[in-house]
Amino acid sequence: MNITYELIDSAKRGSLTNENDLPFGALRTDHMFVADYENGEWKNPRITAYGPFSVMPGAVVLHYGQAIFEGAKAYLHPDNEIYMFRIDENIKRLNQSADILCMPHMPVDLHLEGLMRLIDVERKWCPSVPESSLYIRPFMFGTQDTLGVKSSNSYTFCIILSPSGPYYPGGFSHPVKLLITRKFHRAVSGGTGTSKCGGNYASSLRAAEYAHEHGAGQVLYLDASNEFIEEVGTMNHYHVLKDGTFIIPEFNDSILRSVTSISVLELARKGMVKARTEHVRLDDFLSKVKSGEIIEAGGFGTAAVVSPVGSYILENGEELVVGDGQIGQHSRSLYEMYSKMQIGKSPAPEGWLTKVPHYGK
Ligand code: COI
Repeated sequence: MNITYELIDSAKRGSLTNENDLPFGALRTDHMFVADYENGEWKNPRITAYGPFSVMPGAVVLHYGQAIFEGAKAYLHPDNEIYMFRIDENIKRLNQSADILCMPHMPVDLHLEGLMRLIDVERKWCPSVPESSLYIRPFMFGTQDTLGVKSSNSYTFCIILSPSGPYYPGGFSHPVKLLITRKFHRAVSGGTGTSKCGGNYASSLRAAEYAHEHGAGQVLYLDASNEFIEEVGTMNHYHVLKDGTFIIPEFNDSILRSVTSISVLELARKGMVKARTEHVRLDDFLSKVKSGEIIEAGGFGTAAVVSPVGSYILENGEELVVGDGQIGQHSRSLYEMYSKMQIGKSPAPEGWLTKVPHYGK
């Protein structure tokens, strides 16, 4: 499909000024990629100026939240070219979310080409300082003007870009605190937990406020029975055993499969790290943190990369420190190995990096 360009004058474009202090997700580049879905097909794919959409007040997304998104990253490598990291996985996962929300698939080729053409015109926005990246945010929403609760018959697909620093303030070197609560749940079996739909994040806001009230940054969610550890919402969870093995809670239909977790498990299959999934019983986890059998913990996510957890706050106010509360050596080595692959300072497995072509626009 022919992707058209509606580019703004070079003189009117912005630029990246302070690379060293980039917030996560606040900055935008000059353009976005947009495509419309109507009468059963995708139409009018275009690179256009970043700006507001026109949406009818009765649009399905505004009432019933039929909206999904992805989060991926691109990096400037030492050869001065831009590479997207594991983008195939994010493109695939968007369509898995689309299935769960009864939305049409975005064709993989169109998604990839639109993204690469967008990044190509926005090259100068890609930051190069440590822990920064060009964050990629594809999303799709239902636009049909109808108040009946049903799947929309029209959609907008869009990709925006955000030159970003680390998700958690301070980045890798600042361990986060997690609240373990039985009060809120992110998802249940048979729900939308394995999709990246907006509603999963809207419903996490109340839990995040509750976590802040308890002095924690985020909630570590349990399953609906309150017996097993699930995930954090903005990232999957991991803990590290004394022998250096990373344990990720077994994926189920209420946990979003983080591309970072999948990648760590792939590295484990190649013998580059020790990692596996397991059902993690909360009681067992807490007693092993107390006894020192669990020596490190943290989260895996695209935005979060590897984010160490220093301690857990329990609802009775008790603070349970993991190891010495600092960043452990296993989390540090995994973070370094993984981020070097992302920025092109050490070889990544075949197919993990996709170079953005020069289209001459
Ligand atoms: C990501 O890891 O990219 C996410 O989408 C998580 C969060 C920022 C919503």
